Amino acid sequence: MQETFKLRKFNSDDLEQVVHINRLCLPENYTNYFFVDLHKRFPETFLVAEENGEIVGYMMCRIKTGLSGFRGIIKKGHVVSIAVLPSHQHKGIGRALMIKAMENMGLYNAQLCFLEVRVSNKAAVNLYKNLGFKVTRVIRGYYVDREGAYVMSRELPFKPRV
Ligand SMILES: CC(C)(COP(=O)(O)OP(=O)(O)OC[C@H]1O[C@@H](n2cnc3c(N)ncnc32)[C@H](O)[C@@H]1OP(=O)(O)O)[C@@H](O)C(=O)NCCC(=O)NCCS
Repeated sequence: MQETFKLRKFNSDDLEQVVHINRLCLPENYTNYFFVDLHKRFPETFLVAEENGEIVGYMMCRIKTGLSGFRGIIKKGHVVSIAVLPSHQHKGIGRALMIKAMENMGLYNAQLCFLEVRVSNKAAVNLYKNLGFKVTRVIRGYYVDREGAYVMSRELPFKPRV
């Protein structure tokens, strides 16, 4: 299928549109400072999807340092937030954002990518499973409304099947 969107790195002019998409698509909302700060610290993994000059999706991440079994302390890419406008879903944008962000996590030497997702969020869980993520933990009552979360993760680098 011909892609009609393009991915690029976030810049500060995109803030208003990204905040709008976040508020429309997710109950987890943040202050403007939170977005700006994540961008300042991890610009390579803050991406937007653009179609006809309009921002239609975004993804932002952070890099953490943590224990990983026998490997000891490693860098991990944490997906903080991803959303695509409802009018632009099911076109491969979420998948493309995930793949590009995982690629760019390599620039920070991340060896693993992880995220939390609502147990009821079938679209997102499917998206991540299709990208090779596995549920590694379940956290009961993780969200403010007490819904539980799956913690899902996969090794990096991400190598797309050819
Ligand atoms: C999750 C989300 C980002 C997916 O974005 P998208 O651009 O529609 O996803 P894609 O078109 O790239 O779909 C990729 C895969 O995700 C899964 N998927 C996407 N939407 C789905 C749905 N409604 N039901 C089931 N699976 C779905 C499918 O496996 C799909 O692969 P396929 O098309 O080969 O079947 C989007 O639904 C969204 O913004 N949801 C609201 C915000 C949100 O829940 N964010 C995640 C928080 S953890």
